[in-house]
Amino acid sequence: MTIPPLTPMPLSMLLGRIAEEWSSRSRIFDLPTARIYDVSSGPDLSVDFMGRNAATPIGPAAGPHSQLAENIVLAWLGGSRIIELKTVQILDELEIGRPCIDMETIGYNIEWSQELRVAESLEEYVKAWMILDILSGWDELKPHLGENPGSHVFDLSVGYDLEGIASDKVSGFIDGLVDASDSIERLRSEIPEPFEKWRSHEFDPHIADTVTLSTFHGCPPDEIESITKHLMTRHGLDVVVKLNPTLLGFDRVHGILKGTLGYDELRLRRTDFDADLQFDRGIELIGELRRFAAEQGRRFGIKLTNTMVVENHRDFMPDETMYMSGPPLHVLSMTLLDELDRALPGVLAVADNAGDVQVSFSAGITKENLGHAVGLGLAPVTICSDLLRPGGYGRLKPMLTTLGRDMADAGVADLGAWRTLRAAEAHAGGHSGPVAAYVASLHDPEVNGVYTREGTSKLPRAVDHELQMWGCVACNFCVTVCPNDAFFRLPTPEEMDLDGRQQYFVLAELCNECGNCLTFCPEIGDPEEVKPRIYTELSRFETHDRPGFLVTADDGRVDVTAADGLEREVARLASIFNAAEGLPLPLSTLLERRP
Ligand SMILES: Cc1cc2nc3c(=O)[nH]c(=O)nc-3n(C[C@H](O)[C@H](O)[C@H](O)COP(=O)(O)O)c2cc1C
Ligand code: SF4
Ligand code: SF4
Repeated sequence: MTIPPLTPMPLSMLLGRIAEEWSSRSRIFDLPTARIYDVSSGPDLSVDFMGRNAATPIGPAAGPHSQLAENIVLAWLGGSRIIELKTVQILDELEIGRPCIDMETIGYNIEWSQELRVAESLEEYVKAWMILDILSGWDELKPHLGENPGSHVFDLSVGYDLEGIASDKVSGFIDGLVDASDSIERLRSEIPEPFEKWRSHEFDPHIADTVTLSTFHGCPPDEIESITKHLMTRHGLDVVVKLNPTLLGFDRVHGILKGTLGYDELRLRRTDFDADLQFDRGIELIGELRRFAAEQGRRFGIKLTNTMVVENHRDFMPDETMYMSGPPLHVLSMTLLDELDRALPGVLAVADNAGDVQVSFSAGITKENLGHAVGLGLAPVTICSDLLRPGGYGRLKPMLTTLGRDMADAGVADLGAWRTLRAAEAHAGGHSGPVAAYVASLHDPEVNGVYTREGTSKLPRAVDHELQMWGCVACNFCVTVCPNDAFFRLPTPEEMDLDGRQQYFVLAELCNECGNCLTFCPEIGDPEEVKPRIYTELSRFETHDRPGFLVTADDGRVDVTAADGLEREVARLASIFNAAEGLPLPLSTLLERRP
C-alpha cells in the first residue's frame, strides 16, 4: 500500500485559515478559546531543558502531533512549550500500512516513519515556528493566551542509522533548522492579511539546537554511540537518546505486563529483546556518552521510553509487528527509570539527585499522572496516546490546570519546590526516594487499577446506526481525535432539509487514513470515507482514489465541483460553504474556478 500523500497547507493558507476561523467562530484549527492555555493563570510551571528555558514542562511526543505545522500550533495553544518534532529519517518515500493507529483500548501503532519528504518536514517546522511567533504577538489572542506566552523549545528528532543521519539530505535538514534564515526569508512574503506587519518581523532563525535520537528496535549500541557523537560534533547539538522498554529484559517486562497488569493477550517475542540494547551495555553507553558530552562542552540526556514492540494479535492494523503505548507503557517506563536510577547513583537529574543527565519522559502520560512525573524532575514530559483520544489537543490544558491546582493546594510556587515536596513525602513514607515510592504504587494492585487490563478495557461508545454523508450523532470526536485537524464541522443552514444540526467534512489533503476517527466514531462506518471529502488541490482531486469535492473561488463565493457520481450534492455543499460560518479557508487561498 502506498502512503496516502499528506499535502501540507502553504503558510498563506494556514494563517488565512487562522484569521478566517477566528473571525467567524473564535477558534483556531477547531480548538475553542476555552482550551487555550495562559501560562500566567497558575503557578510557575517553567522548566530547564538541557539549559534552555521552557514555560511549561509538557509537549507532544514525536509522532502524529508534531508533523504538520498546524499540529504544532495546536499543541502550543493547548500549553505545550517543548515540542518534540516528528522523527525525520532519510527514507522518505516508504510504504506504511493503513490504518496505522489503534487506540481502541491502550494504544498500538505501526507508524514508524515520517510521511513527508525531508524537505517538506523542514518547511513545516519553520512554518510552525513563524506562526507561533506571530500568534505570540497577535492582540486578538491575548485575552486567552496571556500577555506573554513564555518561551518554547523545538527539539528535533532524527533516526534511525548513522549512514542516513550523516547523509547530505538529513544533515541539510538539521543545518536548516539550526539556522533557518533562508527558509524564513523565502516564506515571509507569503504572510497574508491581517498578519502582514509580520512580513518585516525579525524571526529568530535558530529554531533548534537539541535533538532526541529515536533508536529503532534492533539498533546496535555501537551505532547509537556513533550517531550521538556525530550529532554533537558535526552539528554541535545537545543530544537526548530515546531508549526502548526492552532494556528491562524479557522476564521483567513479561512479569509486569502479564503478571502485575493482567494483559494476557499481549504477545512478547524474546527475539525482539535479544536484538535490542541490553541493560548492562545501556549503563555503559550512558556513562560513555555522558563523558563524551562533558569533554565536548555539550549536554547529554536520555528519554524513557519509546513504544514496546509486540506481535500484532489484533485485526485492525495490517503488519505482523506493532508498537504498544499508553497506560501499561507508563508502568514499564517508570520501572525502567527506577532500575536506571539505582544502577547510576547520582547520575540522572531526577528526584532529589543532583545528576547531570536530564531525563525526558513519554509513556502513558495523562492528566492524572502528570503531577507525579514532573514531581520526579522529568522534563520534558511528552504525550502521544492520550492526545489521540476524544478531546485531542484540548486535553493538554486540563493537564496543566490540574497540575497547577495541585501545586497551589500544596502551597508550592514552582516546579522545583514541587519536586522537593514530593521527595520529602517519599522519604517520610519510608521509601528510598520518590522514584521508588511512585514505582511501588504503580505495582500495587490496590492503586494501579487504571493501568491494568481491566482498567483499560472500556471500549469507545458505539451506536447501532450506519454512518451517512449527512447527519450523525454529532459527537465531534472525528474533529478532536484527528491529529492533523483534517475534520471540521459546520452548522446546517436553517432552511436546508438535512438530518442533524451539524455537518462534518474532511480536508482530504490532510488525511493520511490513520484510522483514528474510525476507532472513535460511535456510528458504523469510516468517517473519512463516508463524510464529504474536500480537496483544494486540483491534482489531488483528479488523481485520488477516494472521490470528493473540489473547492475553488468564483467571484467572491466558494464554488464546488464534484467527482463523478457525487454531482447531486454540489448545491448543498455550496450553500453550506457560503453561509456565515462557512468553509474555514479564505477564498484568497483557493484556486480560481476553472472556466
Ligand atoms: C502513532 C504514533 C507515532 C509515533 N511516531 C514516533 C516517531 O516518529 N518517533 C518516535 O521517536 N516516537 C514515535 N512514537 C512514540 C511516541 O513518541 C511516544 O514515545 C510513545 O507513544 C509513548 O508515549 P504515549 O504513551 O504517550 O503514547 C509514536 C507513537 C505513536 C502512537
Ligand atoms: S481524518 Fe481520520 S483517518 Fe484521516 S488523519 Fe484524521 S483521524 Fe486519521
Ligand atoms: S462522523 Fe462519527 S465521530 Fe464524527 S461527529 Fe459524526 S458520529 Fe461523531
